Amino acid sequence: MRPVILAIESSCDETSASVIRNGKVLNNIIASQAVHQKYGGVVPELASRAHQQNIVAVVNEAMETSGISKTELDAIAFTRGPGLMGALLVGVSFAKGMAMALNIPMIEVNHMQAHVLAHFIDDPKPSFPFLCLTVSGGHTQIVLVKSHLDMEVIGQTQDDAVGEAFDKAAKIMGLPYPGGPLIDKYAQSGNPKAYKFSETVMPGLDFSFSGIKTAFLYFLRDEKASNPNFVEEHVNDICASLQQHLVNMLLTRVRQASEQTGIKNIAIAGGVSANSGLRRELKALGDKQGWNIFIPSFEYCTDNAAMIAVAAHYKYLKSDFCSLDVTPLARMPLS
Ligand code: KG4
Ligand code: ZN
Repeated sequence: MRPVILAIESSCDETSASVIRNGKVLNNIIASQAVHQKYGGVVPELASRAHQQNIVAVVNEAMETSGISKTELDAIAFTRGPGLMGALLVGVSFAKGMAMALNIPMIEVNHMQAHVLAHFIDDPKPSFPFLCLTVSGGHTQIVLVKSHLDMEVIGQTQDDAVGEAFDKAAKIMGLPYPGGPLIDKYAQSGNPKAYKFSETVMPGLDFSFSGIKTAFLYFLRDEKASNPNFVEEHVNDICASLQQHLVNMLLTRVRQASEQTGIKNIAIAGGVSANSGLRRELKALGDKQGWNIFIPSFEYCTDNAAMIAVAAHYKYLKSDFCSLDVTPLARMPLS
């Protein structure tokens, strides 16, 4: 029943640990950091400090609930990047300490590759090749997935990530961080056709989300000039319309990517893949286009160590270990 791997995720504001045995994820312990809520975004120094406070308890819980002793571990995996330097450093240092103490190898994992591989935690698993729209707080990518560890980015944002667009729009409305889930919640009882927003169209399969932030700011400023309570009175319609706009931008590119590559296995991953509008519209589009759709369960959309564990499993099978002097990478390309 080998290999047995402990995986650690600490790239942003979730401290997480997971144990995987022979490709089966045994648990997924996550400590979220509420400290950032009032700042309207993740504060790197606070994230790093919270990881230091949480990591021992999170790893202990993962080990205890797995029923596996530390001496049975075959490797320690960790997120090397991309992410916040200080946050990554906590996970990397902890992994090094454990690997040294237990005299077992370390496996470095790319966080964005792991988001895609979250589809290999449970069934049904997509067959290769497939396209994955990876949408998070830091990235927006269309990935051509050729095998577990062979992926190519064929489209991506040239500025802000779509998760950032959700969060910044929420901040403009005075909602706490992270605003994506709140926009989703309000959108459920709103009219998605109430308001229209303009769009910057990028060449090829790329995206741009920085313009929507400014457009949204001016839209609210103009509406509030005649009605100071505009946001409070119309929050559901505003959120539904903004969400519809962002989902349309994403799915237009996914449809084009499918047409260009001829690939009809389509997956979504990353924090924004928890969005109910995106999930619903993707299913509807998939039915129309005859696609096989893969949508991760909510637990594996946002940051978690189970996805790091699955990536580590495939790397272990290829004996893809890293040296003890490995350092974190704030930027880390997918291939
Ligand atoms: O993947 P993730 O947990 O962390 C990063 O790697 O960035 O993604 C976090 C992002 C945040 O921008 C958050 O607002 C967004 O995912 N998000 C959502 C939803 N749930 C999380 N955005 C829209 N709707 C949601 N339901
Ligand atoms: Zn992520």
